[in-house]
Amino acid sequence: MRFYQRLLRPLLFSLPPERGHRVGEFFMSRGFLWRMLARRYRVDDPGLRTTLAGIELSNPVGVAAGCDKDCRFLPSLMSMGFGYVVGGTVTLNPRSGNPAPRLLRKVGDGALVNSLGFPGVGAGGARRNLERNPARPLILSVSGLEVEELVECYRRMAPLADGVEVNVSSPNTAGLRAFHQPETFRELLERLNAKRKGPLFVKIPPYDDDRGRDESLSLVRIARDMGVDGVTAANTRPVTEPALKMGRGGLSGRPLFPDTLRMVAEVRREVGDGMAVNACGGISTPGQALEALEAGADTVQVYTGLIFEGPGVARDINRGLSRHLRERGLSSVAGLRRRGPSPG
Ligand SMILES: Cc1cc2nc3c(=O)[nH]c(=O)nc-3n(C[C@H](O)[C@H](O)[C@H](O)COP(=O)(O)O)c2cc1C
Repeated sequence: MRFYQRLLRPLLFSLPPERGHRVGEFFMSRGFLWRMLARRYRVDDPGLRTTLAGIELSNPVGVAAGCDKDCRFLPSLMSMGFGYVVGGTVTLNPRSGNPAPRLLRKVGDGALVNSLGFPGVGAGGARRNLERNPARPLILSVSGLEVEELVECYRRMAPLADGVEVNVSSPNTAGLRAFHQPETFRELLERLNAKRKGPLFVKIPPYDDDRGRDESLSLVRIARDMGVDGVTAANTRPVTEPALKMGRGGLSGRPLFPDTLRMVAEVRREVGDGMAVNACGGISTPGQALEALEAGADTVQVYTGLIFEGPGVARDINRGLSRHLRERGLSSVAGLRRRGPSPG
C-alpha cells in the first residue's frame, strides 16, 4: 500500500473534514515539493496526448472544479501528472459560503457530501493568485447568481485561461437553478458569446430520472445550438444530509460512477461529434476512466478520487490507459471513444 493510503490519509481523515481539507491544501500549496516529485507522477506516452476543444493535453485526466477554488496551488496539481486543471469555481465577489458543518466523509463508500456553497476570494483574489501561480492547460470554472454577475466574472477571468467552464449546476447555491430555465440559460449564453474568449464548457446537473434527464439534456441542446464547445457531466448529486448544517448537500465520489457513465453516453448521443464531453463523477481507477472514454468522453475529471487515492491517482489512471492502448494496438487515447468498449 502506498505512503498516502498508509500514512497520510489516516492522518488527514482523523481530522474533522474541513480541517483535514485545509491541511491537504497546505501541503498542496508547497509548490517546490510537488515540482521535486513531478517526475514520479509523469507518464510519458505520446498515445495519451489528446485535445479538448482544441486545447492540447498531455493526457486526458483533469482535476475537477472545486479542488482549488481560489487558484492557489494549480501548478502543484499539474505536477501530480494531470493533463489539465479546472480552477475555481470563481465568483465575481468574495463569498463566505454556507454555515458549517458543510463537509462530510462517507469513508466506506469512497464518497463526500459537501454543502460549501462557493466560499472563495472572488475574481480579484483569484486573478492575483493565478498571476503568482500560473498553470497550463487551465480551464477556469466561473459562476454567479445573476446573468450580469456571471458574465462580468467571465470577462475578468477568461483572459487568464485556455477555456472556461460555466457552472450552473452546484446544488449548494440557492439561485443557480434559475439558469436551468431555457430562456435564462439562452440569455446567459448569448451574453457570454458576445464576450467570448476561447473554448466554453458548461457543467450540467446530474440526473437519475426522466424529468432530470429532460431538463439536463435540454440545457445540452441549447448549449450545442449556441456554439458551446463542451459539456462536463456532471456536478454533485443533491442529497439530504442531516449531519450538515444546511440539512442537504452534494454527493461526490464512487456512488456517482454508474450515473456518470450513463450521462456521458446520453450526452454524446445528443451532441454527436460536434462537442467535447468531460466525464466527471466517481472516477478514480484506470478501469473507470477507460469505461468513461469508451462511453463517449474526451476527458475524465477527478476530485473525490484524489482525496481517497492520493496524489498518484492521475499517474495510476494514465499508466492503466497506456497499458490498455498497447494491448489493443491503439495509437491514441482519442481512438477509444470512436471504437467503443473492447469485446468481452
Ligand atoms: C468539496 C467539493 C467542492 C466542490 N466544489 C465545486 C465547485 O466549486 N464547482 C464545481 O463545478 N464543482 C464542484 N464540486 C464538484 C466536483 O467538481 C465534481 O463535479 C463532483 O465532485 C463529482 O466528481 P468526483 O466524484 O470526482 O468528486 C465540488 C466537489 C466537492 C467534493
